[in-house]
Amino acid sequence: MGRMLRAKMMYPFYDAVAEDFAAVDQLVKENLSSNVPLVEEISAYLMEAGGKRLRPLLVLLCAKACGYSGKDHIKLAAIIEFLHTAMLLHDDVVDDSSLRRGRATVNATWGNNASILVGDFLHSRAFEMLVEIGDIRVMEILSHATNTIAEGEVQQLGYVRNPDTPEDTYSEVIFRKTAMLFQAASHSGTALAGADENIEDALRDFGLHLGMAFQLVDDLLDYKGSTEDLGKNVGDDLAEGKVTLPLIIAIRNGDDQQRAYIKNAILSGGIDNLDEIIDTVQSTGGLQYTEDYAHRERDKARQCLDKIDQSAYRDSMSDMLNFVISRSN
Ligand code: IPE
Ligand code: IPE
Ligand code: MG
Ligand code: MG
Ligand code: MG
Repeated sequence: MGRMLRAKMMYPFYDAVAEDFAAVDQLVKENLSSNVPLVEEISAYLMEAGGKRLRPLLVLLCAKACGYSGKDHIKLAAIIEFLHTAMLLHDDVVDDSSLRRGRATVNATWGNNASILVGDFLHSRAFEMLVEIGDIRVMEILSHATNTIAEGEVQQLGYVRNPDTPEDTYSEVIFRKTAMLFQAASHSGTALAGADENIEDALRDFGLHLGMAFQLVDDLLDYKGSTEDLGKNVGDDLAEGKVTLPLIIAIRNGDDQQRAYIKNAILSGGIDNLDEIIDTVQSTGGLQYTEDYAHRERDKARQCLDKIDQSAYRDSMSDMLNFVISRSN
């Protein structure tokens, strides 16, 4: 078992599906093979750096919570992680990021072209594997999700360096670019298990709210997290002119001077004074507002869980939800 896999297992919410989780890891490795050595080298570089693997975990927990006894949930979980990793490869180019999972990004090491093309490789490998499962509902869920995520990324691009980004637009973007994949994970895992419609809806919505909370916390951590814990650079969002909720609220609540300061930082992308910017988003309530929003999403997610029968799998989902809120990585 690899170092990262062991580290992940220290969080107890992986325990209920520990064997399946190890099988996913194995399947991921097997499916990275390619006749083109550079494809293998780059995809292994990123996948072996680990990552939290929350989305595949969610697939496994949902399928099991619904009594699934087949084997395809392993493949489905690997597919979701491939899609996620493909998106990260593209995201780091778009965001010009240099650190991911505690390592230099693929774009920083091999260049943008390689990052984009290997992202395409992983994305299309995921769809090959999806066809192997051959469940049309699951295909429908994942193809719709990947399309929505791409839309969300383009929508976000349209608001780069725009200090007048409305809060509603921000919510739409994070729903599309992030919550959608969590929703697709829980929804597809549940659909694969053939659960009743009300259970399918409840777990789909659990993934949605978990995913919203996840991105809200991610946007918070970009200001108040530590680069070492996160394994990615704090301040990346502002540097790239991404107007996330902490900034939207700082502009809304700040006095004239604070507002001008934040707007200028958004337009210039300068993060030399990141500490001062953090002080401003803190004192104007931007961080608190974002955290409160994340907590409301957590509460909605919890209500969804209450609709399904108690089990070790449901307990793990609840623990995972708490982790997403309190995480530092
Ligand atoms: C990063 O997701 C991308 C976002 C949606 C913010 P994760 O934080 O789950 O990435 P890994 O897989 O653990 O590295
Ligand atoms: C993540 O958004 C959305 C994706 C589609 C990957 P971010 O750009 O905030 O993710 P990180 O912070 O780089 O992981
Ligand atoms: Mg990014
Ligand atoms: Mg991004
Ligand atoms: Mg981020």
